Amino acid sequence: MSNSTAAKAKRAGAALGPGPKRAPFVGNLFNFPEKKWYETFSSWATEYGDIVYIDLMGTPMIILNSLDAIQELMEKRMRIHSGRPHTTLVCDMMSWGYILTLLQPNKDFTEQRRLFQKSIGPRVVQEYDSFVQQGCPELLQRLSGFSGEPLAIVTRILTWRRTMGDILTRIAYGEHFFQHHGTEIIKYNIEGLEVIAWAFTRFWFVDVIPLMRYIPTWFPGANFRRVGNQGKHYANLIRYWSFGQVKAAMEKGITDESLVSKYLREGGISEDNLRDAVSAMYAAGVDTTSITITHFLYSITLYPEWQKRIHEEMDGVLGRGQTPTVDDVSKLEILAAVLKESLRWNPPVPLGVPHVSSQEDEANTFPGFVLRDPRLWGEDSQEFNPDRFSPDRNPLADGLPDVWSVPFGFGQRICPGRHLAQRTILLYAAVILSAYEVLPYEGEHLSPNEPFEDSNIRRISHFRCTFKPRS
Ligand code: HEM
Repeated sequence: MSNSTAAKAKRAGAALGPGPKRAPFVGNLFNFPEKKWYETFSSWATEYGDIVYIDLMGTPMIILNSLDAIQELMEKRMRIHSGRPHTTLVCDMMSWGYILTLLQPNKDFTEQRRLFQKSIGPRVVQEYDSFVQQGCPELLQRLSGFSGEPLAIVTRILTWRRTMGDILTRIAYGEHFFQHHGTEIIKYNIEGLEVIAWAFTRFWFVDVIPLMRYIPTWFPGANFRRVGNQGKHYANLIRYWSFGQVKAAMEKGITDESLVSKYLREGGISEDNLRDAVSAMYAAGVDTTSITITHFLYSITLYPEWQKRIHEEMDGVLGRGQTPTVDDVSKLEILAAVLKESLRWNPPVPLGVPHVSSQEDEANTFPGFVLRDPRLWGEDSQEFNPDRFSPDRNPLADGLPDVWSVPFGFGQRICPGRHLAQRTILLYAAVILSAYEVLPYEGEHLSPNEPFEDSNIRRISHFRCTFKPRS
């Protein structure tokens, strides 16, 4: 059997698609974008179609731009398309290869995914409603009189207190741990993630020549050794320290509700897999969720007519001034449609997370393109139009893809936190709008083409707004 790149990709199950011109030996090294992948991938999708094939110095990569192609490879053939890329610096030297998002499919992967399914899957996720609801009063209080970048409130300030960071820390490790060490573990997560995000967006020779990891730190150009040690310091804290604290407290007879104490008591999962699975929750859940709420605030500030419709719906269904509960949220259809449209229009992970096939090629699902594909959403797919989800206004509404699924990935690797994310985002959006009108920052005019930051987790840059109490 031929071992050429093309033959490998074919064996992986993909028809070898067209793609940008490849040079001998280096393939697409010189026309692969250094930055703004999202823009280049979008233009390649328009130019070359549903399956774009590229080659980076012998590493074949497929970019999938249609829901059909993604479902065919990632769902029907998930057994061979569910690996992750392995990089020497982040996975080996920084020791982050253990975390579920980067773990290769194996026995540990299956056990950890099962834990997520059992603990925050669709049948049980409501058990955490009280944790989620606890964050509302402080969220409202912090927004009072606030004018500026809401992401700072939703992520940076509130992660220290009561929003996603708190919720996930409490769910994973419990109230006792949260009260005593919440601030520390959240700080370690924030700092650790900054180091990884920085390392991921740079080219490292050690990823091409893994033996370089053994050169001494004093050697000229060995800066990557220091970066590796720094990343490893945080990986160890996040992986072992919090779990050890909860275990030690349990040995002293202190137990409360948390995933760690529950499964340490009940068993059914190895201690190592329990420890590793819960340590992934913060990293994967906080930024994605906070950005989704921020993009929603951007959409309703940009389109005040939709904000008005949500306010009218809330006043009619719940009564003015009532703070909604998780149960109320299911009655708010316009709110749900606007949130879905905002997530479709600007998903936080538009490039997806690469899947590596066991036949060695790498497939990048491209949900950002799929979520704006006119074949799925209609001719106005580039526009913001929540009415597309209303069967009264769009006869095709019932046949649209599920927005609570596509931006969360595919197949065996689909986001295991999506049900929790959906419940939290809907509640926080409703709670904010029950109390505030969200207005453009004084003197600023927003456009539908505001710039976004250039990273895999894609957030709007410098969006500012003002929260005016509803009179
Ligand atoms: C709006 C919020 C969120 C979005 C848009 C999102 C999106 C994603 C995406 C695109 C992936 C990669 C899927 C793939 O490879 O096909 C992923 C994986 C993951 N997500 Fe989320 N996520 C969100 C919230 C959360 C939350 C709240 C948690 C945890 C409680 C979480 C935990 C994870 C984990 C552990 C993985 C890795 C799964 C694996 O590699 O097998 N996510 N997410």
